[in-house]
Amino acid sequence: MNKIHLIYLLLLIQISEGILRYCQEAVNSAESVSSCPTSNKEWENAARKKNCSKIASQQNCSTVEKFQYHCVINGYRNETLEVCAPSRMIFGHCVEFNRLGGVIQDQYSSPCNDTFPKCDKYYSSSNAYKYPDCYQLVSLSGIIYSTTTMKYNKTSTTDELHST
Ligand SMILES: *[C@@H]1O[C@H](CO)[C@@H](O)[C@H](O)[C@H]1NC(C)=O
Ligand SMILES: *[C@@H]1O[C@H](CO)[C@@H](O)[C@H](O)[C@H]1NC(C)=O
Ligand SMILES: *[C@@H]1O[C@H](CO)[C@@H](O)[C@H](O)[C@H]1NC(C)=O
Ligand SMILES: *[C@@H]1O[C@H](CO)[C@@H](O)[C@H](O)[C@H]1NC(C)=O
Ligand SMILES: *[C@@H]1O[C@H](CO)[C@@H](O)[C@H](O)[C@H]1NC(C)=O
Repeated sequence: MNKIHLIYLLLLIQISEGILRYCQEAVNSAESVSSCPTSNKEWENAARKKNCSKIASQQNCSTVEKFQYHCVINGYRNETLEVCAPSRMIFGHCVEFNRLGGVIQDQYSSPCNDTFPKCDKYYSSSNAYKYPDCYQLVSLSGIIYSTTTMKYNKTSTTDELHST
């Protein structure tokens, strides 16, 4: 089987799994961060902190195993965010989390090449830390970040503070 056939096969598997749907739990978990981990170790630490497994068992967007930690850019390329979402196979682009679509997907306006941004022909979105060039796209868009992180949808945190 050659590379092209393999890509088609992966694409077919992805379509048949029907995971292109809007995922409310993913949108609710999205949180803006000033930077993303760029090594496996940093990634694992950040993933542990985000604790996506807590949400994974309470969502119907994908299987529990596929519902994973991500740190990716947004659709407008002006934000890096942490999100628990169904992982996807990405084909030669940077990964984005699209808040409106509620999905992890290829950022079609950011194809990778040999110079910049670099990434692989296909890879799992949950390995985005391997392609730090993609995070650079955000700083290149000239947005200045504050050092604090913003929470878009505080789910349990605020309730817990008020419950006592
Ligand atoms: C993640 O959430 C689960 C379920 O609520 C909990 O048992 C576990 O201790 C949490 N892990 C971390 C690292 O917070
Ligand atoms: C997921 O599906 C189960 C069974 O259909 C349902 O009971 C549950 O409420 C659903 N959970 C969410 C978060 O939609
Ligand atoms: C990113 O750009 C969009 C569209 O221009 C804008 O609505 C949004 O507020 C921006 N987000 C940030 C974090 O700057
Ligand atoms: C790589 O992509 C960037 C951005 O799309 C473009 O500016 C650059 O010319 C491309 N380089 C090559 C070698 O194709
Ligand atoms: C925040 O979460 C609530 C509860 O799940 C949901 O109804 C609401 O639409 C979310 N708001 C945003 C901005 O995502």
